[in-house]
Amino acid sequence: MRTKIKEILNREDADYKVNVKGWVRSFRNNQFIALNDGSCLGNIQVVIGLDTDEKILKSITNGASISVDGTVIASQGKGQRVEVKADSITILGECDPEKFPLQLKNRPSLEYLREIAHLRFRTNTFGAIFRVRHTLAYAIHKFFNDRGFVYMHTPIVTASDAEGAGEMFRVTTLPFDKTPRNEDGTVNFKEDFFGRSTNLTVSGQLEAELGAMAFSEVYTFGPTFRAENSNTARHLAEFWMIEPEVAFNDIFDNMDLAEDFIRYIIGYALEHNKEDLDFLAQRLAEEEKQKPMNERSELGLIEKLEFVMNNKFERITYTQAIDILLDSPAYKKKKFQYEIKWGADLQSEHERYLVEKHFKKPVIVTAYPKDIKSFYMRMNDDGKTVAAMDILAPGIGEIVGGSQREERLDKLEQRMQEMHIPTEEMYWYLDTRRFGTVPHAGFGLGFERIVLFVTGMTNIRDVIPFPRTPKNAEF
Ligand code: 4AD
Ligand code: MG
Repeated sequence: MRTKIKEILNREDADYKVNVKGWVRSFRNNQFIALNDGSCLGNIQVVIGLDTDEKILKSITNGASISVDGTVIASQGKGQRVEVKADSITILGECDPEKFPLQLKNRPSLEYLREIAHLRFRTNTFGAIFRVRHTLAYAIHKFFNDRGFVYMHTPIVTASDAEGAGEMFRVTTLPFDKTPRNEDGTVNFKEDFFGRSTNLTVSGQLEAELGAMAFSEVYTFGPTFRAENSNTARHLAEFWMIEPEVAFNDIFDNMDLAEDFIRYIIGYALEHNKEDLDFLAQRLAEEEKQKPMNERSELGLIEKLEFVMNNKFERITYTQAIDILLDSPAYKKKKFQYEIKWGADLQSEHERYLVEKHFKKPVIVTAYPKDIKSFYMRMNDDGKTVAAMDILAPGIGEIVGGSQREERLDKLEQRMQEMHIPTEEMYWYLDTRRFGTVPHAGFGLGFERIVLFVTGMTNIRDVIPFPRTPKNAEF
């Protein structure tokens, strides 16, 4: 039976037999193999006999996969507590060093590794990132399960545009040539697979709201798709989103839930992925050293995560945010590229100013002007703003978007008409407001954005195994 390397490294004892399998990270002096099986960051040192067959020796190269039977013994050398003294070694898969694109000796750049994303899991950095990603996903389910939320699978293929932003990928089996047409020349979607026009979902929220009207608290955690042409380090065309939806919650309950949730999953990762996070913290510290003094962050990765765990987020209204920005030295020195005025959306440069320069902590911005937010958000009494809440994080900007929902049928219908959202087609959504409507609220956390935050990485393409971005869907 195979023993995981993590288990061997975690055990206190030695002098027992094991079988280990994994991939060679390095081989030196024809005797010492650093073997990794992905169970943890660390490698186990395998020491092979000086009488090892010449043919086997030749096959022990970086990237080759091997199986080793041997004994765990206290290590003679420095740098490790135990090592495996090999009794026998089998080559499972050879790896030609001349052709292997992953040369671990000279540290490959993140950009290069993105081009070989099918192999990058085998580096320390990406091993750590994706173990942390896994832990965060697990912590998310645990958080909601512990609180009695029902995990709801909302559809990937939908006929609605939840955000009303028109950034959807079409789903169709219609042919490109000889597309069936109506008499007026428009495409006849009755002939399409679903008998109507369909797209990939941009959010599971609308369906989650239906669930919340029965289970009280539900959450979704699934892939979402947006055809926005933003080639930035924060946007993906395919990303994962977590969307809790809670009946009887108002916007304040919603903020409390979001804060508790974010703190919990960060704490969980700190507790269960310390080794990986320490490694990523060190990586980040080295990267920071390359930057000019005034651009370096004041806190290391671990300190930053602990800070977020131990401090309440700042809460301000959109109107206060605009006042702070208009009053800022950065504005007066014309440092902002985009205009700042009441009614315009906050750009990422504004969001980052608020969290990184002004408050130096995560900020929740509420009460946004209604015209820059979605149709389903609850109208505030001023008639100008809605009960929205965005959470902004240092180094990233928006990580959460949420709101209290408009539960009053007449107000919702009116807003939908104003925003040209078809009320007839959306009868099922409006039915929740017809049949036992209740105040309710929810939010969406961009999974990759929180993975970015926790790992200290800076490009979103590095925290999802196979990124989909404009002009890129490799692998
Ligand atoms: O703010 P958004 O658009 O909100 C919604 O979709 C709501 N339906 C959520 C809800 O209330 N249930 O998106 C939510 C979050 C953003 O704050 C951001 O973190 C992430 O999803 N996000 C993206 N992440 C990566 N790439 C993109 N293109 C993203 N667009 C949004
Ligand atoms: Mg948003």
